[in-house]
Amino acid sequence: MNILILGSGGREHSLAWATLQNPKCDKLIVAPGNAGIAKIADCADIDIMDGAEVIAFCEANSVDFIIIGPEAPLAAGVADDLRGAGFAVFGPSAAAAELEASKAFTKEICAAASAPTAAYGHFTTHADARAYVTAQGAPIVIKADGLAAGKGVIIAMTDEEAFKAVDEMFDGAFGDAGTEVVIEEFMEGEEASFFVLVDGEDVLPIGTAQDHKRVGDGDTGPNTGGMGAYSPAPVLTDAIAGIALNDIIRPTMAEMVRRGTPYQGVLYAGLMIKDGQPRLVEYNVRFGDPECQVLMMRLGAQAFDLMHAAATGRLSDMRVNWAADHALTVVMAAKGYPGSYDKGSEINGLDVLPEDSKNMVFHAGTSAQNGAITATGGRVLNVTARGDTLKDAQERAYAMVDQIDWPGGFCRRDIGWRAL
Ligand code: AMP
Ligand code: GLY
Repeated sequence: MNILILGSGGREHSLAWATLQNPKCDKLIVAPGNAGIAKIADCADIDIMDGAEVIAFCEANSVDFIIIGPEAPLAAGVADDLRGAGFAVFGPSAAAAELEASKAFTKEICAAASAPTAAYGHFTTHADARAYVTAQGAPIVIKADGLAAGKGVIIAMTDEEAFKAVDEMFDGAFGDAGTEVVIEEFMEGEEASFFVLVDGEDVLPIGTAQDHKRVGDGDTGPNTGGMGAYSPAPVLTDAIAGIALNDIIRPTMAEMVRRGTPYQGVLYAGLMIKDGQPRLVEYNVRFGDPECQVLMMRLGAQAFDLMHAAATGRLSDMRVNWAADHALTVVMAAKGYPGSYDKGSEINGLDVLPEDSKNMVFHAGTSAQNGAITATGGRVLNVTARGDTLKDAQERAYAMVDQIDWPGGFCRRDIGWRAL
């Protein structure tokens, strides 16, 4: 099969790495890709938000199957465009991608499916939003309705912070994403991510992970896209995963079918767990980044078969063969991230690192210039290792981190601390 992956992050590097191990892959192209991906696959410089351009590329290059990595092209309907042109695609329709693109939509569908989640209100006027804050009181969570690159959520510990957040959202701090606002009950507990594949009807769990959202050790400092992850997440026991499947995920997927917008692709459920009970924090309609990197490390070549089965309605025939092991990834970011950071600093020492089924450095914001690898983004490398225990995976990952010579970069030194 000729396979095209859309995206350019560490997530897409790990998807490419797993796909290439599968004998069904004859040719792999990633668009637009990055310097790490370019070492293992062809990269194509096309606009992945433009369905017509992606279709023309697929026709010209005899592509048989497309995997869409990020949420933006999904929300923009690129999967619909491709399916409309007759291509097999892994990724939901724009209508189903509303599960990530609109927080109000997700809350409403959870209510229809009786899926446990935070109590909420949905507001289109400033005055109503302020009145709800006054009535409920802090702590309370204020969310811009639309896609805001993970930045549209403010956890207000005081009423003052909550009013300020409401004011900012209605003043346009998040552009169109904030013209509608969801205000939620603050949920306490431990967060974990649950990943399932869905083929419209059937749901197949493919793993659990925990992210580290804050920039600093001990979960301090501002939120980021994620500074590291590990899989499995011990807090998501089989019993809790079973409750999440039966009470949250399957009823929501059934509701999507009932509405005529069945979901197909990977569904990433962010769960808050307290006293053995999971509640939904959010859905994402794509793999997490960096959670994907640890899932791919553990799934290997079968990841491609599973994604292809989801895209072609054959999930009920599939089983996941889990290795009884652990994977952990450390994100190396440019100094200054998630604030402003310098671009173009040089990274050395990567060529001597092992690249095998237990150790991989997945690239995110990198480019290759005159043979040197330079940092072009905030999150730049995902140093990833597998081990028999989580501790073992952690030690291997940090041993690789310590061999990387990048004065312009930094990482957290405590990835995995919650489980260890
Ligand atoms: P989201 O963009 O919805 O994932 O929110 C970002 C982060 O904010 C989540 O991963 C949680 O850590 C936190 N969060 C969101 N909603 C709530 C809530 N209702 N209660 C507590 N924490 C929340
Ligand atoms: N790492 C969090 C996310 O991908 O949304």
